[in-house]
Amino acid sequence: MAEPKKLFIKTYGCQMNVYDSERMSEALGASGYVTTARAEDADMILLNTCHIREKAAEKVYSELGRFKRLKAANPDLKIGVAGCVAQAEGEEIMRRQPMVDLVVGPQTYHRLPAMEAAVRQGHRAVDTDFPEEDKFEHLPKAPRAGRGPTAFLTVQEGCDKFCAFCVVPYTRGAEVSRPVTRILSEAEDLVARGVREITLLGQNVNAYHGEGSDGVWSLARLIRELAKLDGLARIRFTTSHPNDMDDDLIEAHGDEPKLMPYLHLPVQSGSDRILKAMNRKHTAEQYLKLIERLRTARPDLLLSGDFIVGFPGESEQDFEDTLSLVRAVGYGQAYSFKYSARPGTPAAEREGVADDVASERLYRLQALLSDQQRAAQDSMVGREVSVLLEKPGRLPGQKVGKSEYLHAVHVADQNLNIGDIARLRITESGPNSLAGEPI
Ligand code: 5AD
Ligand code: SF4
Repeated sequence: MAEPKKLFIKTYGCQMNVYDSERMSEALGASGYVTTARAEDADMILLNTCHIREKAAEKVYSELGRFKRLKAANPDLKIGVAGCVAQAEGEEIMRRQPMVDLVVGPQTYHRLPAMEAAVRQGHRAVDTDFPEEDKFEHLPKAPRAGRGPTAFLTVQEGCDKFCAFCVVPYTRGAEVSRPVTRILSEAEDLVARGVREITLLGQNVNAYHGEGSDGVWSLARLIRELAKLDGLARIRFTTSHPNDMDDDLIEAHGDEPKLMPYLHLPVQSGSDRILKAMNRKHTAEQYLKLIERLRTARPDLLLSGDFIVGFPGESEQDFEDTLSLVRAVGYGQAYSFKYSARPGTPAAEREGVADDVASERLYRLQALLSDQQRAAQDSMVGREVSVLLEKPGRLPGQKVGKSEYLHAVHVADQNLNIGDIARLRITESGPNSLAGEPI
């Protein structure tokens, strides 16, 4: 039998790209590829790219430049670019980097095996369509191999919100939900392979409105159905928009024990003026009310957010409104970014805030957020948590997993195994993780 060909995939950006990379390696698995962790050994290199922030395309070009040497050493090596930079740049990638053989956008991964075959015959392949069919349904089924205890599952893709700064509606396309039956069967399959925690993914996951047995299902209904799966212990979802948080989903945080008490709910800014300019379609107060309702349903809910500072037109007062909102909410975790213009988005036409001003604001915001994050982590000491053990730790016998609140927790106990959900008491709060001992 011929040696299997080797595939090296490098993934940038969000969890959806991580999920897509897994699907792409499965698809190419059916074409005789096994994955390798070393680009030097590869017969095919795929960069699964992200376009969310500045200079994404430039970074991809410089990364590609580094593969020149490998291509010189192995003329059979094929190089592909996937993901959102592929969608945004299309054929331009091949013009600027002629050694690229294949360009595939996020909605056409199911065509990858055919594209690979074409590329092997010396053709070049570019596909950045937004086809009608569900790409996941057309991907070759993965063999039932065992896997780790956690998995991502994409339920929704794309976005119709058109926040003024964001490329997602252009690169991932319009909002589409996968049908309920396909999600349930994928979840059953994951559980049969040992998965105990599933994170439902979507750029706007709580806008989910998939075709169900009796009409359109909401995300809450989907979560409640998934929760009936024996063997599945935990459900998470990300990323949500405040305006799509319906009553049932809020309540589910209180009455669905498998739904974990962690919610990523980006607000981007605490200033109504800036929220309006961003086309977010909600005010700071509406967001705060929503947080209050969520905390009424689930008092220990750990909140996570995304923030942009230096959005065009942001004054010192606007920025201070963001700090006030952060103080009012108290985040356990957050991501914050300096605004960067994305070509093709409405905000890119507007005059930006001076870079040194934006940097200084980012610094102040991050100082506040990291204080909050630290306080939330430190407050876990002495508490009892459930930890899903995901992998071995660095020390012998040690294991690492995540608590309900998504904190990383270390434990040293010979009787515990990967995949177990251990009841632990937190004994220590370190720089990036907690330590616990069995109760
Ligand atoms: N500039 C800075 N940050 C951005 N994000 C999205 N687009 C931009 C941009 N143009 C951030 C938002 C979003 C997160 C995924 O990335 O905060 O929620
Ligand atoms: Fe981008 Fe999220 Fe706004 Fe959609 S809701 S445009 S993905 S920031």
